[in-house]
Amino acid sequence: MPSSQSPKRRHLVVKNPDQNPYVTELEQFNKYIWTDDPQEIGEYTAFLEGSLVLDLGCGSGNFLRDAARAFPERHFLGFELRYKRLVLGARKLKKWGIENVRLVQARAEEIDEWFSPNQLYQVHINFPDPWPKKRQRKHRLIQEPFLEKLNQLLTKDGNFQFKTDHKEYFEEVLGLIKDSKWFSLAELSWDLHNSEFKPNNIDTEFEKLFLSKGLPVYYLKAFPKG
Ligand SMILES: C[S@@+](CC[C@H](N)C(=O)[O-])C[C@H]1O[C@@H](n2cnc3c(N)ncnc32)[C@H](O)[C@@H]1O
Repeated sequence: MPSSQSPKRRHLVVKNPDQNPYVTELEQFNKYIWTDDPQEIGEYTAFLEGSLVLDLGCGSGNFLRDAARAFPERHFLGFELRYKRLVLGARKLKKWGIENVRLVQARAEEIDEWFSPNQLYQVHINFPDPWPKKRQRKHRLIQEPFLEKLNQLLTKDGNFQFKTDHKEYFEEVLGLIKDSKWFSLAELSWDLHNSEFKPNNIDTEFEKLFLSKGLPVYYLKAFPKG
């Protein structure tokens, strides 16, 4: 977004912006963080071409930083709501001189407003908020209608990857995938860090935290059907 233009903040209204230092700092990272309307990102179309990878709920960007360095030919976008985490992520991108990542201040549920069918090569959801109580489960990101959206946005040779420390959420998503008309299961581990998939894994911030506590990481990868 040109620096003369102020972002619309269509997606989020922050409480007490004067008390949040990251609101101002976020403005200074216009190069890395998009906060405007998805309809108005036309000038970035060139950036979006190619192998597009999403990290939904990307936190402060360690996964994106390391994945972008491992796959410099791909383009990465991280969706995140929190100002502080977006700013911490942007600082890392600047520090490491990473040019193939952008951060989007937007709700992961709204990805269909940002992309066209068959535009995404990979979607990662790493340690999403588990909403553990029964009455909260309706807030979970990965549900059947969301899987349908993912199926439509992913390229036919694309994939969806999910990691969590939360066994019950994992079992729910695994059940959805196994019964799904939108995805077929490609890889599965109940202990990613003691599995054949570990060499290809890129740790996230939360993953390191759970590993340090000796907790297993649950992992699956799925291919879109049809
Ligand atoms: C538990 S943290 C995991 C962060 C990171 N993926 C990791 O593994 O280290 C979940 C993140 O998702 C973000 N988040 C929660 N709901 C979201 C939503 N609807 N859209 C985008 N991000 C969301 C939170 O702000 C938080 O940073």
